[in-house]
Amino acid sequence: MIKQEKITEIRDRASIVEVISDYVTLKKAGRNYQGLCPFHGEKTPSFTVSEEKGIFHCFGCQAGGSVFHFLMKYDQLSFPDAVERVAKRYGIKIERSDGARDPSESGERESLYRINERTAANYRQILLSQPAGRKALDYLKSRKVTEEIAQRFMVGYAPQTGSGLLDLLRREKLSVKDAMRLGLIGQRSGQQFHEKFFARLMFPIINAGGKIVGFGGRVLDRGLPKYINSSETPLFHKGSTLYGLYQAKDGIRRVDRVVVVEGYLDVMALHQFGLCYAVATLGTALTSDHVRVLGRYTRNIVALFDGDDAGRKAAARSFEIFIETGLLGRAAFLPKGEDPDTYIHGHGPAALEKILEEAVPLADYYFSSLKQRFGMSLEGKSQIASEVSRLLTKVSNPIEVDLLVRRAVDTLGVREEVLRRPVVTPGYSLGSKRTPKDSPATPSPIRDDIAERSLVSLMLRFPAVLRSVEKEGEARQWLSSKWQAVVDLILAEWQERRQVDVFRVAQRVHPDQAAEITALALQGESILETECDKMAADCLSHLRRKYLRTLERNLRVAIRAAEERKDEQAKRERILEWQDVVRKERQLERRRLEPKPTIR
Ligand code: UTP
Ligand code: MN
Repeated sequence: MIKQEKITEIRDRASIVEVISDYVTLKKAGRNYQGLCPFHGEKTPSFTVSEEKGIFHCFGCQAGGSVFHFLMKYDQLSFPDAVERVAKRYGIKIERSDGARDPSESGERESLYRINERTAANYRQILLSQPAGRKALDYLKSRKVTEEIAQRFMVGYAPQTGSGLLDLLRREKLSVKDAMRLGLIGQRSGQQFHEKFFARLMFPIINAGGKIVGFGGRVLDRGLPKYINSSETPLFHKGSTLYGLYQAKDGIRRVDRVVVVEGYLDVMALHQFGLCYAVATLGTALTSDHVRVLGRYTRNIVALFDGDDAGRKAAARSFEIFIETGLLGRAAFLPKGEDPDTYIHGHGPAALEKILEEAVPLADYYFSSLKQRFGMSLEGKSQIASEVSRLLTKVSNPIEVDLLVRRAVDTLGVREEVLRRPVVTPGYSLGSKRTPKDSPATPSPIRDDIAERSLVSLMLRFPAVLRSVEKEGEARQWLSSKWQAVVDLILAEWQERRQVDVFRVAQRVHPDQAAEITALALQGESILETECDKMAADCLSHLRRKYLRTLERNLRVAIRAAEERKDEQAKRERILEWQDVVRKERQLERRRLEPKPTIR
């Protein structure tokens, strides 16, 4: 722990504008500074830094806090690490006083990082300028990896005869023991040390902060094992590390999307073709820790799978991983026999981007996979139901539970009603885990804002609906104040950017409502384009009717009150208003009774 006074001292001495300027181009705007927010994609600056107050805030994505929060968020640092980073920049000495994390520890980590860094530089130097590297360079060329990309990913080569790592350690007074802990050096017997990686192309694995935490090494031929990766070390945890994240993080923020692939060379190939938002797991399946890490950069996660059976199974499995984190991933599939690397080289980036655009929500994918697996007999349906309720126990947000229930119902073939059914949120409270018994089957109170909800999900999905709500200038007043605020936000977003990003909307409302809105957005995904106009018109006329009915009732009350007060003028005015409302109601009713195609 760092003492509070110290933290305050560091904050006072540091200039938040200066520190943030290392990452974001800031311009003076009045008393404050402004720039493009690094935490979400935007074209007009809403990211504001106040030197005076020592804080930053993004009006677009609501990120905000002190200079330490900025670094924590930007580089995924812990609070003490962020404090240390700022202290260092301003030459302030600090001691950490907590028992668990002894003062030497951060120094120790630094020396481990240092060894990895020197080792990687050495591999790289061998690849580029020693005869032993020739073969590896040729190999890279045969894989169509450009020099620029090899550079960006710091690719190197560990020769058959060793990279001279032990000499390097001695020369630079680095600890052999630490190199052993890092899995770079092994010990056979006595003082017989040897290098663990040899005759392999070396891919440094870099964490989000830009530090090398481990290595993957590939043979240049068909030898086995194809890859060797560093084992788990104090710096390296496979289950939460993503290859390429460091290189991808700006790209991910810029396009507000990430694509997860499987291989080192896949990541490099995608970056090489400008898809700079690709990362890979490290020879393991995607974990919920991975998803959580990615969720800090974007909520729009697409996992790219092989088109074969194994890929499809993996996609279905990964849904569970996403569910645990509360994020809703999507899955995209390559044609059989291709991996991202071969595909992008063969078909170009546009073709791959198209595949990514066609990614399906994992929820949909999961449910249709259940359908395939169990069949649609009565028996099959009941198996599906039990599988779904098992999964639901993992979901902590009731809105999501409802959503999944609805999707499941959808899969079981009761589409129309499902879309018309209210979002059921009995006893809504975030964080209360449900037991399987009380989730899907519990009867729930019918809500009276079905139409509002449907309208919002339509608006989140279809520009055509946005346009018709926009045109129907009065529409917002037909809504309850709760939904009015949401609709206003959505329309503002639409007017400003000509597109609606549900996460931007969700970030501007109360967290409880944010969850509802994301749920509605998802609900919208199952609506067909051909149905949207009809559905929106239905919702709007329903809302209008409800609004007029209330207005009519209130006016009647007002007329009676004016009468009792003997206020003739008020009474006359109210009666005129009342007549107007009744006329509108009749009109609406007539339109409703006109013959029209059946509602789907
Ligand atoms: P792949 O076998 O798909 O290899 O493994 P690749 O990345 O496409 O490489 P190329 O194109 O054949 O050269 C995907 C990932 O699985 C891990 C690695 O992280 C690899 O990038 N893996 C694979 C291992 O860890 N060990 C192995 O033996 C094989
Ligand atoms: Mn490959």
